[in-house]
Amino acid sequence: MADSKPLISGNWKMNCNHLEAIQLVQKLDFKLQSKDYDRVEICVHPPFTDLRSIQTLIDGDKMSLKLGAQNCSWFESGAYTGEVSPSMLAKLNVSYVIVGHSERRELFGETDEIVRKKLEAVLRHNMSPILCVGDTLEEYETEKTQDKVFFQIQSGLKGLSFEQLSKVVVAYEPIWAIGTGHNATPSQAQATCSFIRSIISDLGGSEAASVVRIQYGGSVRPGNAHDLLSQPDINGLLVGSASLDADSFAEIINFA
Ligand code: PGA
Repeated sequence: MADSKPLISGNWKMNCNHLEAIQLVQKLDFKLQSKDYDRVEICVHPPFTDLRSIQTLIDGDKMSLKLGAQNCSWFESGAYTGEVSPSMLAKLNVSYVIVGHSERRELFGETDEIVRKKLEAVLRHNMSPILCVGDTLEEYETEKTQDKVFFQIQSGLKGLSFEQLSKVVVAYEPIWAIGTGHNATPSQAQATCSFIRSIISDLGGSEAASVVRIQYGGSVRPGNAHDLLSQPDINGLLVGSASLDADSFAEIINFA
């Protein structure tokens, strides 16, 4: 079980232009109190085009909110049209970068090798990667969840030092639960998150396994957040659509 604060992350996906982003963050921060930030680490992951505006807002209003990105290149700079480098993100005070989200794996062909390169690039720039892993509906129905997750965790984390591992967050997101309204039950989510922790323990030792925070993601709502967060191996949530509504996101944060 991880010892630090739970991490509640809002993955906005391809939603909100920079003006809408400012409004959403202002509304969210208005709903949160300093005791929320004392108890929980809270991070939003807007699209790239919003990052500078939100960074300025966080700095200007001295908010305790953390800034995250949804993706990044593994290259440092150069002729890579359309890519954004980790150093550019670090310069904007980005703390967390999602790597290997199932939408990137499934829709944009990201392989485990690519995900690993991105994860290392994020770590090189002193940011924390949120490594997403998860099973498809077919894998779930044919009881291949553990095989899938084992492979993804191994290829994402094998060979990392303790120092590197301690910066990593893992998000277990069953693909069949993302955007579908069908979340995994708290006990299903706990079983897989506990399995993930055991793989990390085999890879990096029990201390590393206790430090790495494991989030659950997939149709998290105010109505299921409490039960999910009550599970011993769930140390936070990666929230998609419910994070686009300041009231819902703040309610979820209240349960942490
Ligand atoms: P959802 O998305 O909460 O809308 O299911 C979660 C995610 O994709 O991270």
